[in-house]
Amino acid sequence: MRSLCDSMLLLLIAAVVVATAGVTPRSGLTSSYGQQAKAFIDQSSERYFRLYNQIASETYSANNEEDFEALFSKLTTVKRIADELVGISHEASGFDLSKVKNGVYKSALEELRSVGDLFVLGEDYFSLVQMNLASLQKMSTDKDIEPYMGGAKMPNEDDSPLAYYPDIQKIVQRSSDVDELKYYWETWRDKNQIWASVNFYTIVQSYQKAANILEIPVHQLWYRYDSQEMIQQMEQAMSELMPVYKQLHAFVRHELHKKYGSDVVNPNGPIPDHLFQQVLEQAWEEGSIIESYFPRQRLPQFDDFVQELSAKALVNESENFYTSLGFDSLSADFHKNQLKEPNEDTPNDDCRPSLFDLTPRVLMMYCEKVSFRKLMQYHGHMAR
Ligand SMILES: *[C@@H]1O[C@H](CO)[C@@H](O)[C@H](O)[C@H]1NC(C)=O
Ligand SMILES: *[C@@H]1O[C@H](CO)[C@@H](O)[C@H](O)[C@H]1NC(C)=O
Repeated sequence: MRSLCDSMLLLLIAAVVVATAGVTPRSGLTSSYGQQAKAFIDQSSERYFRLYNQIASETYSANNEEDFEALFSKLTTVKRIADELVGISHEASGFDLSKVKNGVYKSALEELRSVGDLFVLGEDYFSLVQMNLASLQKMSTDKDIEPYMGGAKMPNEDDSPLAYYPDIQKIVQRSSDVDELKYYWETWRDKNQIWASVNFYTIVQSYQKAANILEIPVHQLWYRYDSQEMIQQMEQAMSELMPVYKQLHAFVRHELHKKYGSDVVNPNGPIPDHLFQQVLEQAWEEGSIIESYFPRQRLPQFDDFVQELSAKALVNESENFYTSLGFDSLSADFHKNQLKEPNEDTPNDDCRPSLFDLTPRVLMMYCEKVSFRKLMQYHGHMAR
């Protein structure tokens, strides 16, 4: 499951995806229908890249100001771009697909139909969707949860209120105290579930409405992929995984039962979610449930491999991996202008590298922190 912040960014991106140009389809007076379609598609791609690069550079300049106000102050530009995207969607819908013979053009036109995305909702997009997305994001980062036992278990018995991300997540990464884990699981949900449901419901409903207007299946709008085929593929993958998953689940439950006893874990029932989260967060850490099988001390200390390197050198290391496989190196322009350096004035230990790769002008932001995990994340981004 993606984190809320990721979803937020993805939704913003999705809400802004794929754009194109203005040629109104006319019946074939001067050229064939197929040629008109091609001209429209070509111009649209160009317009799409231009709008997108604009959004990318705005998003990247906004990276350090994730607050509510900052987001809304950006809306004037977003509104203008939104109108253009909706225009492209409408123009693409104007083409009669049954008259387009070339399959490549046909699917390009179908794709262009959906570029208006949630923006086809018009004012509702800005008054409802944006608002709900912003509040969903705030829910995960608002520091409004009293610490367990008034902060007695926090460093220096700090009793300041906590946010889910990153504070509570860090506690789940280190705690093996069932009551503490349960307290945070329940308290955060008690505090947020009503608003989270309302916001989430509004967003889901908005997707349904937009899909309706665009006359495409809602799954296609959300996943940007042929929905039926994908659902079948996911079902298939799930059934292939099922036997292994069942064994893994039984193993985790058995280990948790050994560790915490029958009062906490029913050896034949579901795994309590707060413990399941803990297992996921603590896998391969010291004291995790696989400790007796794979003692942390005997595993390689991966961070040692990179501790001599600078943040930028980690990015270069991942590039080197791909060039060693025979891929071209990244351009000097990429290194100079498309790679956003971390903000050294406000170093952020919780920074996550990000990538904007929806046009050929890819932007990437890296982080100051030097760790093996970051190196792996850069490898992932480089692969894309
Ligand atoms: C469809 O158009 C593409 C791009 O112009 C072209 O490469 C391809 O050969 C065309 N296909 C057919 C079946 O005409
Ligand atoms: C990373 O690679 C770029 C491009 O090859 C180079 O200019 C830069 O000096 C390298 N930086 C580090 C820290 O290795």
